[in-house]
Amino acid sequence: MHLLRVQVPDFRGLKDIDITFEKDFFPKIFPLGSQNGGGKSTLLQLIFVLLHCSVCPEKMPFVENLLQGFKIYDDKKTRILAVIDVWDGEKNVQLEFYCKDFNYKDEEDDEDPVSEDIEFFICCAEQIPNNNPEQDRGLLCRFNNIDPDEGKLFLKKLSYKIFLAAPSTQIFLFLPLDSRKLLFGNSSNGDKNYYAILEAARSQLNGLFTYDFLAVELLIESFKSARDRDFREAINTGSYGNSYQALIKELNLLLRNKKINLNEDFAGVNFKLDNNGENIELYPEDLSHGELKRLSIYIWLKFRNIEDAIVLMDEVEIAFHPDWQYQIISDLKEWAPSNQYILATHSYALCEALTPAHVKEIEPKLIKQESNITNES
Ligand SMILES: Nc1ncnc2c1ncn2[C@@H]1O[C@H](COP(=O)(O)OP(=O)(O)OP(=O)(O)O)[C@@H](O)[C@H]1O
Ligand SMILES: [Mg+2]
Repeated sequence: MHLLRVQVPDFRGLKDIDITFEKDFFPKIFPLGSQNGGGKSTLLQLIFVLLHCSVCPEKMPFVENLLQGFKIYDDKKTRILAVIDVWDGEKNVQLEFYCKDFNYKDEEDDEDPVSEDIEFFICCAEQIPNNNPEQDRGLLCRFNNIDPDEGKLFLKKLSYKIFLAAPSTQIFLFLPLDSRKLLFGNSSNGDKNYYAILEAARSQLNGLFTYDFLAVELLIESFKSARDRDFREAINTGSYGNSYQALIKELNLLLRNKKINLNEDFAGVNFKLDNNGENIELYPEDLSHGELKRLSIYIWLKFRNIEDAIVLMDEVEIAFHPDWQYQIISDLKEWAPSNQYILATHSYALCEALTPAHVKEIEPKLIKQESNITNES
């Protein structure tokens, strides 16, 4: 899967967005830049929610939350939210997401861009919050250059191939509005805690990942499955395989000065640090912010088997030294090369690891700053 182009005419802070991610660029890693508040996080979340949730009824509340405040203008029947072009390996599939007012009465001069005889797949027919409770509004998806049934299947397949990684301190627009407000309130407000709500959302949105979360269980599972593969090989050939050793070696390469070990009871992992001859045992909670983040991303990509996917990553550089910001490009290329990565970033070091053509920007590139110093002469 490859995200080819995304167009967003007008959604929250995003205006006239039209970004192309070239299919033949190598590596398939595209930094996305803008000033603070330029709309990077909004764009990544919009793409993620539309592609991850639209075909799953149980995920519909996330779509509705995101669309809060997106109104169809009084004199219109529809309003385009986003047009997303995806390469499925053989062809370009264009997905046009738009909201429609089902009760709107057509007038002859209505400039409705959508003709009625095309079949639509309704991905969200719930009432989208609006000021007029008598009007039913839905989010629809039109498949251009693909048959609607095939389109639905494609969207289903795509929902397993789209991922969003972001810091947990990020405001997630697909959470309910009142829970977003909690981030700014008193966090000791019983179980109404932003992070608890985010955790619950994460358990429903399997494509969502927050960097702070070190998937120790995933790591243990992968150790166990390597052990089982080795044992099966012993049954079949008489000698143990080396999957377990290979996994340890790979992780140690990543960790550089530390050696990873599985606890004997399989309940956790620890790290041996050779500190000038003294052997120190460390636990995941002892790792540094940046080390933990790098290891988390690796484990997430590797052991969730994220392959041939579109991976959207917000602020991937936070906590990394500029060397690691630069290095993360070759890390991603090495760890899971079949994916396309779109990295919302402020990091020069990260962009320098790619060609200038890889780097996409959301306008305005520069806003003229009003000077506080008045020239009175
Ligand atoms: N309904 C809205 N209409 C217009 N602008 C909005 C609306 N809601 C939020 N915004 C603006 O959108 C911006 C939020 O954008 P977003 O968080 O996507 O930016 P960003 O590029 O990720 O910034 P940063 O680099 O600081 O993370 C804010 O400046 C906010 O004021
Ligand atoms: Mg942001």
